[in-house]
Amino acid sequence: MGKKMKKVALIFGITGQDGSYLAELLLKKKYIIHGVKRRSSSANTDRIDHLFDSVNFSNKNFFIHYGDISDGTSTLNIINKIKPDEIYNLAAQSHVRVSFDVPEYTADITALGALRILESIKILNLRKTKYYQASSSEMYGLVGKRKSLNEKTPFHPRSVYGVSKVFAYHAAVHYREAYGIFASNGILFNHESPRRGPTFVTKKIVQGLVRIKKGLQKKLTLGNLYAIRDWGHAKDYAVSMWKILQHKKADDWVIATNKENTVKNFVNLTAKKLSLRIKWVGKGLNEKAINIETKKVIIDLDKKFLRPTEVDFLKGDFSKARKKLKWKPVITTNELIEDMIEEEILK
Ligand code: NAP
Ligand code: GDD
Repeated sequence: MGKKMKKVALIFGITGQDGSYLAELLLKKKYIIHGVKRRSSSANTDRIDHLFDSVNFSNKNFFIHYGDISDGTSTLNIINKIKPDEIYNLAAQSHVRVSFDVPEYTADITALGALRILESIKILNLRKTKYYQASSSEMYGLVGKRKSLNEKTPFHPRSVYGVSKVFAYHAAVHYREAYGIFASNGILFNHESPRRGPTFVTKKIVQGLVRIKKGLQKKLTLGNLYAIRDWGHAKDYAVSMWKILQHKKADDWVIATNKENTVKNFVNLTAKKLSLRIKWVGKGLNEKAINIETKKVIIDLDKKFLRPTEVDFLKGDFSKARKKLKWKPVITTNELIEDMIEEEILK
């Protein structure tokens, strides 16, 4: 019997939070991994430096290529060179608030970038290549009833980021239907980790409160405290991405925890774990949290962190993934917060 060939995966967005966890998972599964990294003037490989030789950009199963999904030619060339078994498109301008400031750029990367990859698979006639699209719960946007959302819930995006993700979602479905490409959508609800970017709310809260506890920062300023999110751990969600591409047929999948928390709850849980006793006072934009021991205001609000249109409620029903993919989240919200605090405290 000949030796089994290793599977080859190509990851766009390898330097991001999810790219790093997915790369770790696939290396454990003995894949050969190719990742696409953008050129930047400062280092952007912090999250994956432990996986490869950052000077020569490789280890024997892990290779990094310069590329950008705004550049159709380079995207096609990389896919042609590697002819991967699996492509994971995790690349995006992924910040919802930023998409209000840079809408055209967001659409170019988050919507058209996905199309460029799908079109490359089509042009190169890669019949065996499977495609994963990082779709998002942000696509649901304005939801009527506050109930768990599933694969059948209609989309009503509230930002150009959400609109772009809806485009990329439908592009994947369309290339599946029109050209028979194995293209699947993972509709992932918010997922966080110690590797989360510092301007997303969970990381901002954990980093801010740890720094306040250490005496390195006086105050944390936030926006809407009452948005409800379904927060999971990125490590669990990387497993779902892989499972989605191992399923016998291409399909669309909600990945979530089916638990809800407000931003304010997340603050309270984090403060409690840090033994910071806080009391909330005031209303609207004047709401503040006071440190009971020092009597000082340690959290206040600023309208610059509000969005012109907000997504008030996101909670996902992942029963299809549980049943057919045998996927479920393992890490609880409490454990997620502990993991994030632990890393932040060591800094
Ligand atoms: P992230 O940390 O912001 O990572 C985004 C990745 O995309 C980074 O590697 C970034 O590179 C890369 N990228 C940005 N523009 C690019 C371009 N023009 N060409 C090539 N690469 C580019 O996001 P994440 O949290 O890991 O999320 C991964 C994906 O899942 C994103 O598509 C996001 O929209 C989606 N998603 C995330 C969540 C969540 O809660 N985390 C939920 C649902 C869906 P740099 O490092 O150089 O910036
Ligand atoms: N970023 C941020 N900063 N958000 C704040 C703040 C703040 O100071 N204060 C309150 N919020 C509220 C936001 O208004 C939003 O309702 C909620 O906290 C979560 O914001 P983010 O952490 O920025 O995440 P998001 O839900 O907008 O988007 C994330 O999840 C999507 C999946 O639903 C991103 O990871 C997207 O890429 C992802 O698709």
